[in-house]
Amino acid sequence: MDDEQEQQGLVSVLYSVHEKLRLKKRELKADTEWQEAWESHTSDHATLQEYSKAMHALATKIWDPRNKNIPVETDSRPKCFKSSSNNLQSVKLKCRLEWVLHCCEKYFSVDEAKEGVTLHSEQSSKLKLLDVGSCYNPFSKYGNVFDVTAVDLCPAPGFEESIFRCDFLCLKVIGNGEVFTDVTISQFEYDQISVGSVNYRQLNSLQAGSFNVVVFSYFLEYLADPKHRLESCQKAYKLLKPGGLLFILRPDSSKVTPGGNTRLIKMLKLGMVLLGFRRVYFEKLEHLWCMAFKKETEEYISASIASSFFKRDVHKIGIGNIFDDRTRLHELFYISQDLKEITSGNLQQGVSSYSSNKTEGDDSHNLLEVLPGYDDSSYND
Ligand SMILES: C[S@@+](CC[C@H](N)C(=O)[O-])C[C@H]1O[C@@H](n2cnc3c(N)ncnc32)[C@H](O)[C@@H]1O
Repeated sequence: MDDEQEQQGLVSVLYSVHEKLRLKKRELKADTEWQEAWESHTSDHATLQEYSKAMHALATKIWDPRNKNIPVETDSRPKCFKSSSNNLQSVKLKCRLEWVLHCCEKYFSVDEAKEGVTLHSEQSSKLKLLDVGSCYNPFSKYGNVFDVTAVDLCPAPGFEESIFRCDFLCLKVIGNGEVFTDVTISQFEYDQISVGSVNYRQLNSLQAGSFNVVVFSYFLEYLADPKHRLESCQKAYKLLKPGGLLFILRPDSSKVTPGGNTRLIKMLKLGMVLLGFRRVYFEKLEHLWCMAFKKETEEYISASIASSFFKRDVHKIGIGNIFDDRTRLHELFYISQDLKEITSGNLQQGVSSYSSNKTEGDDSHNLLEVLPGYDDSSYND
């Protein structure tokens, strides 16, 4: 079997799991029914294991060899970071993991210290990183920089000892955000469980304010429900220390997204501001979008929401009412598949129900009405 065939086989395993979940989500309109369906999915060990095995093989056998970084002199694509003052441009990053590493090295370096950022050098020698949907613990190879806590619904076979089994949606966040400097693995509360013949460490809770970095690498796309994506970002906010970074890496689906990808990215950026984040790094790599969001202070967020720049974007996207009606906030966390279903008329929940409630003279719009006409060309960051 050649590389291409192997890749197709592995991708089809992943795709079928995503599709089944999305189909279920479309069928089950009530949140309670969907909750049951999600629980049934998370207890389907055979499917979860097949998925994690395929994901591990895809990432390490197909992607990694292709994504070796290349010297920037031989690369005609845009620079890695927007800032011209960084010294990281001697290589062009192709690998998502290295992108995260380089951003962290830059952001948390003492030279770049900014007010409100909790520097790792003040506390311990390593940055505490939570990898959600880790699958095969890829960040463990940067053990000199990161103290990794890896969690997954089902760690890939062979990674049961280094990755906690955990449904991030069910994870409890303990405490009210006071900063913990010395949380070590031994202090985590977990249960030793067996599923079939496999032993796992099941993680049920984590302390608020205990991580410098949280990573969602291809994680949000697994979640069929935009409300789950919203909840996950809210949870990441609680788990981060002040000034900490949430990385969101998502596949480039511009070819299949109605109207292109940039509006989804803009929507996410606005949604994240409303949760208390500011986007600090942003780059398009060959097959994915990489974004890093800083956990901001309330003052900063209020000021940016009040800014004319923010209002202009809100106006363009047509989400004015989301400020008054936070029950629609999850709409900003749509992914490409949601838009496809909206445009094909399959996704009724939220969008259409909002539409029917709209009163005359209401100047906020339904995303469905506004998005097809949204002007992608004006997107410049
Ligand atoms: C596409 S894989 C990404 C793997 C890895 N992060 C990477 O970048 O290669 C998505 C992973 O998220 C995990 N996952 C999905 N929902 C989850 C949840 N609610 N809690 C924890 N892990 C979850 C899946 O089991 C799967 O391993």
